[in-house]
Amino acid sequence: MSFLSETLSRVKPSPTIAVTQKAAELKRAGKDVIGLGAGEPDFDTPDNIKDAAIAAIHAGKTKYTAPDGIQELKEAICAKFKRDNGLDYTPSQVSVGTGGKQILYNALMATLNEGDEVVIPAPYWVSYPDMVLLAGGTPVIAEASLQTNFKLTADQLEAAITDKTKWLIFNSPSNPTGAGYSWDELKELTDVLMRHPHVWVMSDDMYEHLAYDDFKFCTPAQVEPALYDRTLTVNGVSKAYAMTGWRIGYAAGPEKLIGAMRKVQSQSTSNPCSISQWAAVEALNGTQDFLAPNNEKFVRRRNMVVEMLNAAEGIACPTPEGAFYVYPSIAGCIGKTTAAGTKIEDDETFATALLEEHGVAVVFGAAFGLSPNFRVSYATSDENLKEACTRIQTFCAALK
Ligand SMILES: Cc1ncc(COP(=O)(O)O)c(C=O)c1O
Repeated sequence: MSFLSETLSRVKPSPTIAVTQKAAELKRAGKDVIGLGAGEPDFDTPDNIKDAAIAAIHAGKTKYTAPDGIQELKEAICAKFKRDNGLDYTPSQVSVGTGGKQILYNALMATLNEGDEVVIPAPYWVSYPDMVLLAGGTPVIAEASLQTNFKLTADQLEAAITDKTKWLIFNSPSNPTGAGYSWDELKELTDVLMRHPHVWVMSDDMYEHLAYDDFKFCTPAQVEPALYDRTLTVNGVSKAYAMTGWRIGYAAGPEKLIGAMRKVQSQSTSNPCSISQWAAVEALNGTQDFLAPNNEKFVRRRNMVVEMLNAAEGIACPTPEGAFYVYPSIAGCIGKTTAAGTKIEDDETFATALLEEHGVAVVFGAAFGLSPNFRVSYATSDENLKEACTRIQTFCAALK
């Protein structure tokens, strides 16, 4: 009898965390390494949010809370959904968890039975398939392509749906590609869902506020109101408010689902951190003025990175609509050999050689379900990005 659970044996550890650790090890060993693996903004949590947390501590708001969040935060979340997305929810339709990650996990744990399928468009955020497996379901990967800037088409979604499909996990703007679906592009997908009334949609809107140029964010329940009763709209404060360490995520959806998620949470973490919840109330209700200047910074970096990567031999990099990632293709590098003699067989050997020979840490595309690509996070300084892209150009120019 195995001591470790069989379910766990089907799951792999997060490759993004593995890359970050490997880069840290090389740095500790004295190597000059630039990490482009981070999934978090490089700026600090705004002061008004920190102050709200400090005030909560002084006011003694340091005890257990209701399992899925304090009433004040649920009200702030309802106001946010109304203000930003035109969606009407009441506090009893809202769940707050320890990060968006726990919210997604709770929803899958609360709904999946053996044999239930979850459609996940690739490239996907690394955790989706493994969370589905942990919850006892079966991930069904629907591959998008570079030709559509990594956006799933209606035909691809239609082909992935079976009688066993329970959920579609939808993520726009996307981690790892930054791709954001326009209203019309999303409507094509919601039209498919309208033809399959047994399929629910879990919309991961974590990067909502990181939307650039003239791209307008939209979410499934807004684009197709008839889907409201089978949509879980997930969001959080981690990315837009630079609050990754505070661990607050949230979702709104049908009460029955929210109640089931509450049950999961009440038997695992009890409740998200009380102090972080008060900080999140301020994040959502307070000034949103810092979002625009941060986005200006991100757009400038994105433009520089896309331009420099496209100038590297063998690399093709589309310009994404949002988030802080780009997902270049290295199809033109496959089969070549690096200056140090490593043959580039796939995106994993590319990323390993790039790290070992030039000290640039990126995450290889196979981790996100679409190859041959790699993910660059541009949530780091302009100087780091410029130096890293110059090294990538040098690495590619030397390929034979
Ligand atoms: C697409 C996506 N969803 C959810 C999350 C989870 O965010 P949180 O920090 O709120 O758990 C992340 C974090 O990297 C993400 O990229």
